Amino acid sequence: MCSVVGYIGKDYGRNFIIEGLSRLEYRGYDSAGFACLHPENNRLLYCKAEGRLQNLAAKFVTNPIDGHIGIGHTRWSTHGKPTETNAHPQFDCQQIISVVHNGIIENHHQLRVQLLEDGHVFHSDTDTEIIAHLIESLLKKHNDLNRAIVQLVAMLEGAFSFICIMEAYPDQMILVRKRSPLCIGMGDDEMFVASDALAFAEKTQKVLFLQDESFAIVRRNGVEIYDFKEKPLPIMIHELAFDWKAGDKRGHKHFMLKEIYEQKRAIHATVEFLASLQDDLWGHIGLSEEVIYNLERLSLIGCGTSWHAARIAQFFFENICNIPTRIYLASEMRYMPFFRESQSLYIAISQSGETADTLEALRMVSSFNLPTLALTNVASSTMVREADGFLLTQAGHEIAVASTKAFSTQLAALYWLAHRIAYEKKLIDGQAMELAEDDLLIAAEVLENSIENYKFIIQQKLAPFYAQFKQSIFLGRHISYPFALEAALKLKEVSYIFAQCYPAGELKHGPLALIDEHIPVFIFSCQDQVIYRKLVANAQEAKARGGHIVAFCFEGQQELIDLADVPFIFPRCRALLEPLVMSGLMQYFVYEIANVLGCEIDKPRNLAKSVTVE
Ligand code: AGP
Repeated sequence: MCSVVGYIGKDYGRNFIIEGLSRLEYRGYDSAGFACLHPENNRLLYCKAEGRLQNLAAKFVTNPIDGHIGIGHTRWSTHGKPTETNAHPQFDCQQIISVVHNGIIENHHQLRVQLLEDGHVFHSDTDTEIIAHLIESLLKKHNDLNRAIVQLVAMLEGAFSFICIMEAYPDQMILVRKRSPLCIGMGDDEMFVASDALAFAEKTQKVLFLQDESFAIVRRNGVEIYDFKEKPLPIMIHELAFDWKAGDKRGHKHFMLKEIYEQKRAIHATVEFLASLQDDLWGHIGLSEEVIYNLERLSLIGCGTSWHAARIAQFFFENICNIPTRIYLASEMRYMPFFRESQSLYIAISQSGETADTLEALRMVSSFNLPTLALTNVASSTMVREADGFLLTQAGHEIAVASTKAFSTQLAALYWLAHRIAYEKKLIDGQAMELAEDDLLIAAEVLENSIENYKFIIQQKLAPFYAQFKQSIFLGRHISYPFALEAALKLKEVSYIFAQCYPAGELKHGPLALIDEHIPVFIFSCQDQVIYRKLVANAQEAKARGGHIVAFCFEGQQELIDLADVPFIFPRCRALLEPLVMSGLMQYFVYEIANVLGCEIDKPRNLAKSVTVE
């Protein structure tokens, strides 16, 4: 789980690089390093340390190196122990070429043997050092930087991204990307480079995401990009819709609340980002068009909230592009018989891109040589690196353990993807595609407005009242059932109130026995008339047993509104977007209940943001 950060420009780069690395440090690492070119004589200078970034920073007191071009790295050891020698940057024989690297060079052993035979001297156990030595020998052979890179990437196997600075090219930085993300923040007479835009989001909003299998020559005032055959590629700049200020609650009491309120902007950013990729979508996400054209089946994999998003998205893919869609809970999938299905795409959904069960399920699918896609919020995550392709939500850094904006942006991205696949398969036209994008933006608007509509009454009356109950039941049907699952999970994790969720049709098959005046029943309605009628019947059954009903329903659903003790009424919307529209208010309501109870909302007991162990 390494991170790379680089700088070239008018200023000195060290402070930015260390700050950028620290913004990405939640991902975990065991050593760190920095290299730059001396501002006057272009000599390569470096400093490395075991452990935390503070250890590296402490070394700058006696070794205050800095320059106008520099690179930094935090390393999670794979090849070789977490020692200072194995920390990045790594160097060539003469220490004039310096490389920081994410990912794994799978054929490093074979390349090392060859380089040793050619007389190269190695200092570390890392696969990264191979890159520096190969650049050294290829430059000697060709004396042409672009040609050397093209030859280099043809020799390397695996998924990797790296940044290189060299004494011989003091005004340029070389970036290479293959199945591991890298992006460039475009500044004014300066460029910021990182494995995740979070590193430079405070410096610039203009980002260039390097396409898979491409390399870039970055100068302080310009960028050239090429594919691995040295064909120049267009420069496509994306606007980050907002800056990510990690560690700043922006006046909110909790990160969860801040993140609930960021959803409208995050959905907008996700839709705009995806729409901007239209012409080059499959190339950008790393899948061949053929996979999409021939798609007959889809499988969505996830855990927790991401699994709920997958279950909701099943309705998108089956209704919008007529593709039978299977949903896998990652922690179960790995221990069940697996039937290899051709013409199928497997999508791993994960906010962090690091969840151990989802990652292992993805690896299992890959081992069958089946195409995989990671839908995640973290560009530099392992899933992005390991899946064949990736699609990024633009939720920004989510800090609260309880997922909110990551969930709604997953829904937005999956809804968009279902339309895009339908468009590719000629089931819908361009106008329908645009309409889908507009519908998402409208849904984001309604999501935020509904919080505003009910905020006061929730704070004053409803949250204190519902905080008194020790248990609750959640009911949904059709697309509102997986949403009810998500609502129950959210209440449990932030308020510790026991919540049990059922498909509403199951009520009579047992759970009705639980219902009396001591248990609130949360019902999530649908606009489909047939499903709505059934839900009304379920609400009546609960009401007749003294159940206390909180209904999330739509304008005109008078019977349900009248039955409910508390009706939250939403404007009518696209049926498949009902969960997205309701998610803000649902999250806000459970947040306020937990707030009344004085819970540790951002870090609930026993839970971690990223579940990287099984
Ligand atoms: C959500 O509120 C949870 N904290 C949790 O269920 C989470 O969604 C799950 O651990 C999966 O995480 P991921 O999306 O990062 O893979």
